[in-house]
Amino acid sequence: MHFDATGKVSLDQIYTQPDPRPYFSSLRALDYCIPEVAKPHFAKLIQEYQATQGVAVPTVLDIGCSYGVNAALLKYGLTMNELYQHYSDPADHDRDALLARDRELACTRDRFLDTRFIGFDSSQPALSYARSAEFIDDAVHADLERADPTERQRTQLAEADLVISTGCVGYVTHKTVARVATAHGERRPWMAHFVLRMFPYDPVAERLTALGYETDLMEGMFRQRRFASAEEQSLVLDTLAAEGVDPEGLESEGWLYAQLFVSRPRRAGVPAKKDEK
Ligand SMILES: C[S@@+](CC[C@H](N)C(=O)[O-])C[C@H]1O[C@@H](n2cnc3c(N)ncnc32)[C@H](O)[C@@H]1O
Repeated sequence: MHFDATGKVSLDQIYTQPDPRPYFSSLRALDYCIPEVAKPHFAKLIQEYQATQGVAVPTVLDIGCSYGVNAALLKYGLTMNELYQHYSDPADHDRDALLARDRELACTRDRFLDTRFIGFDSSQPALSYARSAEFIDDAVHADLERADPTERQRTQLAEADLVISTGCVGYVTHKTVARVATAHGERRPWMAHFVLRMFPYDPVAERLTALGYETDLMEGMFRQRRFASAEEQSLVLDTLAAEGVDPEGLESEGWLYAQLFVSRPRRAGVPAKKDEK
């Protein structure tokens, strides 16, 4: 088992496979559940956006969308258990057959939320799968930790009404979030990020404040997944201790926990000023 600098087990190899089976089989073993836990909170925010901003079909940008997990849950009302079951089917499917099955799954379900989804990830194979499965409607392949978006990417990012993420802050920082927030130039998308407690959110919130946002820490501690091993738990507890986060009754019990941060432009409904930095 390989651990990254933060003490978390490295799962990088499952993010870049041609199809999602390694992703779901590895994460199922860890009871990875944050997209399911996040679903009602994202749904509530999207519905609030529809009602208050008068946008019937908002565009949602999912940072670190991977194989289109949040889109599958929010557009089609699928559950993580269904996806875990779906991708563990023992039948010997090749990628094309899997994709055909996914498209069938999507079109046999009623729409859960009327949304258009843009998936954004640094993994081209995951994005390509999510797009072909028709879970996401458009894809942005970029690493905005390293560079500004291209003009084409900026145009795509600028379409976002809302920006969401699960399991991605930590891999991405204030750099990516700020580049997404400012893609439009004037209109700021609403944001909702589920962030592991081991990753300080202050740098992101401070950057968003400078861009005209107000950030709320929502009530609740949200289970993300089980620790992969006692060693991972011990390493993460060290990271939490260094950040001054008390793990008692939470990470000490064997699960990684996230918190939900919601950011809206300070005067909701009024475009933030272009030069408000
Ligand atoms: C733990 S997975 C979460 C996937 C999905 N959101 C979920 O909850 O199932 C983290 C994702 O972040 C992506 N990622 C890592 N670094 C990134 C970066 N710099 N920019 C965009 N995506 C990144 C990975 O490729 C991976 O798909």
